Amino acid sequence: MLEALPTPPVDPILALGGAVRSDRRSDKLDLGIGVFRDEAGHTPIMQAVREAERRLLDDRTTKTYVGARGDLRFADAVAQLILGTGRPERLTGIQATGGTGALRVLAGLVARARRDVAVWVPEPTWLNHQTIFADAGLKTAGYPYYDRTELRVRPDLLLAKLETIPAGDVVLFHGCCHNPCGADLPFEAWEAIAEVMGKRGLIPFVDLAYQGFGRGLDEDAAGVRLLAAKMPELLIAFSCSKNFGLYSERTGCALVLAENEARARLAGEHMALVARPLYSMPPDHGSAIVRTILEDAELAASWRIELSEMTQSILDNRRALAAAFRNATGTTGFDYLENGSGMFSLLNLSPGEILTLREERGIYIVEDGRINVAGLPTQRVTDFVHAVTDALARRT
Ligand code: LMR
Repeated sequence: MLEALPTPPVDPILALGGAVRSDRRSDKLDLGIGVFRDEAGHTPIMQAVREAERRLLDDRTTKTYVGARGDLRFADAVAQLILGTGRPERLTGIQATGGTGALRVLAGLVARARRDVAVWVPEPTWLNHQTIFADAGLKTAGYPYYDRTELRVRPDLLLAKLETIPAGDVVLFHGCCHNPCGADLPFEAWEAIAEVMGKRGLIPFVDLAYQGFGRGLDEDAAGVRLLAAKMPELLIAFSCSKNFGLYSERTGCALVLAENEARARLAGEHMALVARPLYSMPPDHGSAIVRTILEDAELAASWRIELSEMTQSILDNRRALAAAFRNATGTTGFDYLENGSGMFSLLNLSPGEILTLREERGIYIVEDGRINVAGLPTQRVTDFVHAVTDALARRT
């Protein structure tokens, strides 16, 4: 039987992780998968998470199932974090296995409602988006988002494209900290998007995987909050991997804002049906940690401080990178790195240059040119910049 399996496609982000692990060089530099690293190159457990875990260890008396939709108090706490208000009655949520699980459950919900719609994703987008939607049986198409020559977002092109997308189709947005380009939409663009989407009957779907990693928890949610206020329907995939540092706990939430409470309830029931054959019921530990933090004012305050420290360190890295490129090139051509938001930015390197950096220098960059700015130790910034500028200087 198994001989009938085709050669599988390579997942560019996960395969890179495997290559890094098998590289024996002590000075290798992993700028691949999106994890935050401290100066020692370590991905720490947040203090608020440790404290919540300690409390859970003391208080928990059972490991029984959490139910098809998981911990609904967790979903309510996440909804409050995203929207900045209590959960509206027309909103429903289901605990999911990380941001990817939330995306997949919502994709399944879309397919149950309308199998024939397309999901429009930004160009470029996270390399897993198309795969997730295809897995749910949905087609995807791209809309213009980021201009790699001008190094900026193009809301004008995006809005012009929205005018041509068939009514009923779904349009995916990165709520903040765009993966991979790190260039976010200005608030006025969100306002214009809401207007066109409403007029044309398009369904917004926001992937919010980095809330708090860009400009701040409230600032990063400004776009999704605007859509929630203006749109009759809205899908949100939320991840706790980065902002709570809960990568391995696979903690996320799929939220649906419907026209009314009855439809929200229906959506919640269907999401549970999507999850049932995939993983039956979600795991408990990660969501219990997040709920414990968010429901306790003191823990929540300490979590917010730790999160802002991580964000500050990413901003410091961005500033250091831009300065080192200015020094090395004598130009401002890399200043866009300083203005980027969140963990990622794109470097305009060819596949050959990316391979050379990997083979000759042990520097690992995703094949689309994405670098994880949050994974770069400050003491390696100059060294990294010299490697990149050397590669660029070898261009013929
Ligand atoms: C990334 O883009 O690096 C992360 O979201 C991890 C992943 O699953 O790809």
